[in-house]
Amino acid sequence: MPLTPVLTKRWLSPRSWTLETYEQLEGYQGLRKALGMAPDDIISVVKNSSLRGRGGAGFPTGMKWQFIPQNDGKPHYVVVNADEGEPGTCRDTPLMMSDPHSLIEGIVIASYAVRCNTAFIYLRGELVHCLRRLQHAIREAYQAGYLGKNILGSGFDLDLVVHCGAGAYICGEETALLDSLEGYRGQPRLKPPFPATHGLYSSPTVVNNVGTLASVPGIILGGAEWFTSMGPEKSPGTSIFSLSGRINRPGQYEAPMGTTLRELLEMAGGIREGHSLKFWTPGGSSTPLFTDEHLDVPLDFDSVAKAGSMNGTSAVQVFDDSDSVVYAVYKWTTFYAHESCGKCTPCREGTYWMVQVLRRILAGQGTTEDLDTLLDTCDNINGRSFCALGDGATSPITSSLKYFRGEYEDYIAGRIPPRLRQADLVGAH
Ligand SMILES: Cc1cc2nc3c(=O)[nH]c(=O)nc-3n(C[C@H](O)[C@H](O)[C@H](O)COP(=O)(O)O)c2cc1C
Ligand code: SF4
Repeated sequence: MPLTPVLTKRWLSPRSWTLETYEQLEGYQGLRKALGMAPDDIISVVKNSSLRGRGGAGFPTGMKWQFIPQNDGKPHYVVVNADEGEPGTCRDTPLMMSDPHSLIEGIVIASYAVRCNTAFIYLRGELVHCLRRLQHAIREAYQAGYLGKNILGSGFDLDLVVHCGAGAYICGEETALLDSLEGYRGQPRLKPPFPATHGLYSSPTVVNNVGTLASVPGIILGGAEWFTSMGPEKSPGTSIFSLSGRINRPGQYEAPMGTTLRELLEMAGGIREGHSLKFWTPGGSSTPLFTDEHLDVPLDFDSVAKAGSMNGTSAVQVFDDSDSVVYAVYKWTTFYAHESCGKCTPCREGTYWMVQVLRRILAGQGTTEDLDTLLDTCDNINGRSFCALGDGATSPITSSLKYFRGEYEDYIAGRIPPRLRQADLVGAH
């Protein structure tokens, strides 16, 4: 399967982030077309394109927009989820750095479609360079009449505000994001009601990922059929696969949905010399691990789910035979324990316990009962937590025990030298 630059097609152009370059390469043509259409027709095109959210869950975007009630007398909001905190996930940041106007154009089209006059980008707080780039692009868009009052003479008004978070992974969860945006501590809200009816300031709100919205101008311009001509029927379009880890040429590879790891590795120069693939994540650390058995699984939402994992954010982290799966799982679990917001007991306590048990095993002091304790704890977190952070925290543990139980047993039996010292067992996190 070849590289298919759609979202990435401008990234290598000189000064790709400027309005001048963007306009030379079809920029804002989708918006011009959209403003000549009825808002409901835009929603229909996006529905027919079968675009699915790129933030992880793969929810159909057109359907999400259609849930926004009309003529309800309330303000409507579009909120862009640019929090990008999942370990291994690193494609929204380069997109905003290289091509911020594609996101802005997508936001204006989405806002017009759902009758929103104020939109927000919720940006990960550490991304100061990205903030500057977005602010510059937004200024350019206001000056050119793509934002502000009476956009391109259409009578449609839109203001766009960038808000910086403070670097908490949980603020990527859409309802925690909304609480944080309102100025509260970022913790997930009870659902229902869903953001479509009770979102920002209790008003109808669309929350979409950066890549989802940046896909929209191309769909409006090229049409739904163009989009569905790429990738599988139920997960069409392209995905930016973020390849990291033990490969020769890590980076962002845009290819049709349904491309396999075998094909991606061919493009990325393969696993480093003298080593072989051991395990990998198809879509970030919250998605159950795959092994070399899964090299030919098409990486799209349905096929990955059928093979026992999740497509997530297409963040493909690759590990080879020199890597310890137990240590990698320990590091991920430490992340989840640190990022657990503390609202619900299974996740708050369970992630903490799992770190302790994994430490014990890596220090050569584990027992076989520890493996049952790990699985039992996962069982009490998965499906019993308030939000998907808890479920995600169990994925590395259950999947690694499924495929690599022997490695855990080797640490316990002393066949593998301890990876942590006695001193590491003191003090939690
Ligand atoms: C703990 C957690 C973190 C998340 N982080 C992000 C994120 O950084 N970016 C994102 O777009 N979605 C993230 N999501 C998913 C969002 O809740 C939501 O599904 C997404 O923004 C919807 O956009 P989409 O329909 O365009 O995919 C996260 C979910 C959870 C549970
Ligand atoms: S699952 Fe974890 S992150 Fe989510 S609400 Fe519960 S404690 Fe907070």
